[in-house]
Amino acid sequence: MGTLAKEKLIRALKDEIRGCKRCPLWATRTNAVPGDGNIHSAIVFVGEAPGYHEDIQGRPFVGAAGKLLSELLLSIGLHRDEVYITNVVKCRPPNNRDPKREEIAACSPYLDEEIRIIAPRLIVTLGRHSTNYILSKGGFKGRSMISIHGKTYEVNLGGLNLVVMPTFHPAAALYNPKLKDLLIEDFKRIPRLVKQPRGQSILDDFL
Ligand code: URA
Ligand code: SF4
Repeated sequence: MGTLAKEKLIRALKDEIRGCKRCPLWATRTNAVPGDGNIHSAIVFVGEAPGYHEDIQGRPFVGAAGKLLSELLLSIGLHRDEVYITNVVKCRPPNNRDPKREEIAACSPYLDEEIRIIAPRLIVTLGRHSTNYILSKGGFKGRSMISIHGKTYEVNLGGLNLVVMPTFHPAAALYNPKLKDLLIEDFKRIPRLVKQPRGQSILDDFL
């Protein structure tokens, strides 16, 4: 897809998300939070749902978890503007509660569409909600984050063959140094995963 076509599609999608009322979360939001960043990125990062600061600013990962995500990216030589960052659910659940199954069902077509337009090589899922959603598309059953983080899975999303690497949510690592160390280790795999030529298997794990 050409650059202009991509930009146009993403702009239209973001406008649609900002006006969306497909699930009850629209009523309590300040701003819907579409994905943000480089639409030509080979990597898309998928979090859970906006928090307080994201809801106010209308941008994903701008609070404390976002600061850690930016640091993790810098640790592998990437600025956050170089990659695309989004969430499974685009409006903040009240008091940052977990998104409900029906909210994920209502909102996830937007994530599918973002991924279809951007067509990345690698999706890094942050935390169990985005991991379960994306891996379920590949027919993988839910497993604990501790057993699957840092591994790679092949998932076909709307005709697109993608590699998925689940890791922990940065918010979970903020006050847990052990998880933070695991996140740092998982992020170290990313540059190698996106450098691999297309068609060559980079999978190291099958469920
Ligand atoms: N946590 C998320 O999952 N997403 C954000 O955008 C911010 C915090
Ligand atoms: Fe629409 Fe998603 Fe917001 Fe629900 S969470 S209102 S589906 S954008």
